This record gives sequence, C-alpha cells and structure tokens, in this order.
Amino acid sequence: MSDKVVLTGIKPTGIPHLGNYVGALKPLIEMSQTHRTFVFIADLHALNTIHNPDEISANTYAAAAVLVAAGLNLKNAVLFRQSDITPVYELATLLMNVTPKGLMNRAHSYKAMMDKNTANGLDIDAGVNMGLYTYPILMAADILLYKSDIVPVGADQKQHVEFARDIAGYFNNLYGNVFRLPEPVIGRDTGLIPGLDGRKMSKSYDNTISLFAPEGELKKKIMRIITDSKTPEEVKDPDTSTIFQLYTHFASAAEIDEFRQMFLAGGMGYGTAKNRLFDKINSVLSGPRAEYERLMANRGELDDILSDGAARARAVADDTIARVKRAMLGH
Ligand code: ADP
Ligand code: TRP
Repeated sequence: MSDKVVLTGIKPTGIPHLGNYVGALKPLIEMSQTHRTFVFIADLHALNTIHNPDEISANTYAAAAVLVAAGLNLKNAVLFRQSDITPVYELATLLMNVTPKGLMNRAHSYKAMMDKNTANGLDIDAGVNMGLYTYPILMAADILLYKSDIVPVGADQKQHVEFARDIAGYFNNLYGNVFRLPEPVIGRDTGLIPGLDGRKMSKSYDNTISLFAPEGELKKKIMRIITDSKTPEEVKDPDTSTIFQLYTHFASAAEIDEFRQMFLAGGMGYGTAKNRLFDKINSVLSGPRAEYERLMANRGELDDILSDGAARARAVADDTIARVKRAMLGH
C-alpha cells in the first residue's frame, strides 16, 4: 500500500462510455487497489453547464454505480458527492483571495469559450458564467481539501491541476505551510479510444458506446462501426481499424495477436470481425453490467455508499478547513 493519496473528480455530464472507461475509470480503479483514493462525483462542476437537477442527479447515480460495478476498491477508496461536503464551498471562497485574476484568464476552459465567441462574432464573454470562469478555483479547493498527492486526469485537465499547485504555493507563501502540493498524473497513454465513426469517442461527436449498454444495444452499436469497403477476401489493416483498436482494450495479448493475423491474412469480412469484437467486450462487461443494473435498481444501496464516503471525506475536509481558517482569519 502506497502512502500517497490519490484524488480525482468525475463530472456527471453524461452516462460513461467505453472511452471514459478505458481512458479514465479503469486506471483509477486500478490505483484504488494500492492507494488511499478519494473519488467524488463533481456535481458542483457540472452546474455551469447543466441546469436541470434531475439530469445531474441521474448522472451522479450512474457514475457512482459504474465505479462500484467496475471494481472500485471501497476499502481504500472514499466515494462521495462533491456537493455533500460543505467545506469545499468555504475553501473555494477563501482561495479566491490568493488567486490572481490573470490565472483564470489563462485557463483553457475559459479561453476555449472566448475563442468560440470570437469566431462567432459574439462578445468574448457571451455565455460565460462565473462558475465557468472560477472553475479552476473550485477544482483547487477539491484537490487541496483532501490533502492529495496524485491527481490522475486526462490531458485536458492537466492545466487545472497545475493551477491548484500554483494556488497552494501562493497560499503557503502568505500563510505558512498549510497545503500539500499535488502532482498531476496524466493517464498512461492508452491512446484515444475511437468511436463508431473512427473519430475520438466523445459525447460531443455522438459516436459513443455506453459502457453498460444492454447486450442488444451493444451489438447494434458495434454493427454500426464504420469500416472501409474492402471485401471479405481482401487483406485489412488492423492499425487503422476501429474494430481492432477497440478489441485491443479488452482482449489478452495472445487474442490481440491472433486477431491481428486474421486482418493481415485476408479472408475475414468486417461482419465476422465485429461479431468477434462484440463477443469479447460482452464477455468482459457482462458481470459488471449485471452489477451496475442491480445497483441502479437499488438506489438506497448507492445512497449508503455515498453517505459513508461523505462521512469519511468530511473528517479530512473539516481538519483542512479549520487549519485554513486559523491561518487566514486567526480563529
Ligand atoms: P467526452 O469527450 O465524451 O465529453 P469527457 O471529456 O467527459 O468525455 O472525458 C472524461 C474522461 O474520459 C477524461 O479523463 C478523458 O481523458 C477520458 N476520455 C474521454 N473520451 C476518451 C477516449 N475516446 N479515449 C480515451 N479516454 C477518453
Ligand atoms: N474538472 C474535471 C473534469 O472536467 C473534474 C474534476 C473536478 C476534477 N474536480 C476535480 C478532477 C479535482 C481532478 C481533481 O473532468
């Protein structure tokens, strides 16, 4: 067991897909076997885009159920809802006072919005609420509150973790050594999981396969993967095939090698290849899928897991916020 503390947040903006699983959830679940891990559903971070409480709540349960069903180690991992821990709101407010405005101006998430507005001939701040603008401060509060060492994130979030480190540094300079400095850890290069159309699997492209889609839907989606128009007899290139790329994330090394040879030998149609992919993914996911369905039908069990997690998270959060208030306010 490592003595480093791992922390990450999962934003409940949709039902997790195979890309989220391979790129983010699976590595996190693996880390939870050997590290004390804080995992929270970042519902406060979803608020700047989703204004429908039922949607946030449904996505929160789905994300929690996915993590538990896929094997998060609940002995080492504290799983909770971000919004259940009051000190995170307090810490975000307090950190505002040591965070330069210029840092927020440079945040990728805000800059992307300004660029889009400029391209569309709109005011640069059109559609930007303060939740989006101060997003990195709330994220710093998450990271610093739970005294985390390692923050595994996708490449798009690396800058935010660096900001958390910067903000901790500004704070410690002014008030003494209160915060531990976190390190971003960019997930090992799993490569991007392709979607049905061959582009990156992403909800923005509407090309996803839901992680725990029922068997029939999984099959239908896999059959819809776009391929080139080679005949069954022709030799095929595994390295540019979405079917093959997806297969590599679920099969053993020997199976991957065998499938590669079948592409290179010719004589295998894409229909056959898709069936093989379906059988593989289905056999790997059918156990966890049944557990996911069971949990989604037993919300009370998820509530218990989340409230147990909140109690464990609160113990650490209360300690940090007390130290921060003492350092800043003298009481
Ligand atoms: P989406 O692109 O569907 O909106 P998110 O941006 O919410 O997905 O991604 C959440 C996490 O899942 C991120 O850490 C990201 O790195 C990972 N992820 C998303 N899509 C993929 C993909 N196609 N391949 C690998 N990882 C992915
Ligand atoms: N912003 C992250 C995302 O969009 C989610 C998140 C919120 C997070 N707080 C965090 C990730 C703290 C790591 C650490 O995916």
